[in-house]
Amino acid sequence: MKITVVGSGNVGATAAQRIVDKELANEVVLVDIIEGVPQGKGLDMYESAPIEGTDTRVIGSNGYDETAGSDIVIITAGIARKPGMTREQLQETNAGIVKDVTEKVAAKSPKAILIVVSNPLDVMTYVAYKASGFDRHRVIGMAGVLDTARYRTFIAMELGVSVEDIQALVLGGHGDSMVPLVRYTTIAGVPLSAFTDQATIDKLVTRTRNGGIEIVNFLKTGSAYYAPSAAAVEMAEAIVKDKKRILPCAAYCQGEYGLNDTYIGVPVKLGKKGMEQIVEVPLTDEEKAALHKSANEVKANIAKLKL
Ligand code: LAC
Repeated sequence: MKITVVGSGNVGATAAQRIVDKELANEVVLVDIIEGVPQGKGLDMYESAPIEGTDTRVIGSNGYDETAGSDIVIITAGIARKPGMTREQLQETNAGIVKDVTEKVAAKSPKAILIVVSNPLDVMTYVAYKASGFDRHRVIGMAGVLDTARYRTFIAMELGVSVEDIQALVLGGHGDSMVPLVRYTTIAGVPLSAFTDQATIDKLVTRTRNGGIEIVNFLKTGSAYYAPSAAAVEMAEAIVKDKKRILPCAAYCQGEYGLNDTYIGVPVKLGKKGMEQIVEVPLTDEEKAALHKSANEVKANIAKLKL
């Protein structure tokens, strides 16, 4: 198993470290255009392996030759938000970066599964899908796992219960229009509504929608990376171990949920073939309308790129 991480910034480097710590691959290749940074961070990480008790080898590079034959490629390249910026304001710059990186990755690793992390997430996953020419099963975006993790954390903080016992699904685009499915949120299998009132639930949903900017406003010089990298690696682990996990991810819809020709957050089954299935859970008219509204926003942003 060989995993490449493109981008050795906070998200990419932390993702690589998590892969090493979990020994999810025999080899991790960390790629970045900045001279010395992927090499330095990669070697430093490799030197943590004896302490962590893992045999994952780490290589840092400014080029793509070392990435050849990767099974999974996690794309984190691009600029991150600063306070006052929306994810959409990153679109023009990051579309160029993601297209370029994807073409180079796809040429060296034609059988890889791509996990896209760059923002605006749903649009960038679409860019990678087009640039790679890969089947939709092998191009997936990371957002729903992160948004769901934030939602679960806020519920745990509010109710004083274990994060482990909270099951939830946040669908839709990675932005203000995301769709936390409150009806399917449970604590140890019991609906959330049995534990708290509607006003509290509304507050938790709003905080989830604003979860990304809450961190940006604290950090000021960039955006979140601990939870985003954990989310990307959870997806990679499901693929590496062929776990058939059902996780909310950005997937290319071809009729599922009545949506076409767009990437959007939906529950998918992740296994060794990548996105093996989009799982269609029953939605109320209101939930379906929220998902479609979110998808329409993503589509409008894709249209602006004139791909
Ligand atoms: C976030 C940014 C990275 O949600 O999209 O933290």
